Amino acid sequence: MSLNYPGYFVSFEGIDGAGKSTHIEAFGKLLQERHPNREVVMTREPGGTPLGEQLRKLLLDAPMHLETEALLMFAARREHIAQVIEPALQAGKVVISDRFTDASFAYQGGGRGLSLSKLNELELWVQERKNGVLLQPDLTILFDLPGSVAEARRSKVRAPDKFEQMDLEFFERVRQEYLRRAKEDQQRFYLIDATQTQEAIWNLLKGLEINI
Ligand code: TMP
Repeated sequence: MSLNYPGYFVSFEGIDGAGKSTHIEAFGKLLQERHPNREVVMTREPGGTPLGEQLRKLLLDAPMHLETEALLMFAARREHIAQVIEPALQAGKVVISDRFTDASFAYQGGGRGLSLSKLNELELWVQERKNGVLLQPDLTILFDLPGSVAEARRSKVRAPDKFEQMDLEFFERVRQEYLRRAKEDQQRFYLIDATQTQEAIWNLLKGLEINI
């Protein structure tokens, strides 16, 4: 069973420094050019709504208990789905989100060690639409690379946020959880080896066949 929205939902994922931000805007423009009759909505998590953006500031800066962090991520997501994602999908739009629930599994689960059963419960609570069918991206583009390469690439221009300050082992655990999720749902995930050049990655994105 599927949810069969007339719209199409894409998420971009990867550890900090994997390079997804470099490509997401251009990818949105590309889809807009290819599908001029569809509105492309660019959004992000945590964030995407006024409340979500306020939660983002807290989540990226304020120290808090791990479960508080997970609950706030999903609270921001609940609002994001209600205000932005679901109305857009119902209206036939293309939604491109910089991160979605896979990031909670990767960061709060893999990285910080929150039990996957708690994350599964939250995912079900926030994303279940009917008879156990979850609202999920139609396509998740995962930028995969070793934590050490990502660390070297991370911007040295601005001060690192709470997550960017974490050590290499943390990012390796985040990466492994992303890869586990990708293996579990190979139909949804498109895995990119993000150690490649920007040009090579862009060519892969341009070549992706998307059934919108
Ligand atoms: P960004 O830097 O890609 O905008 O993401 C913000 C940070 O939030 C990033 O370090 C990953 C983290 N994050 C989580 O820990 N859990 C989540 O559910 C989401 C959406 C992001």
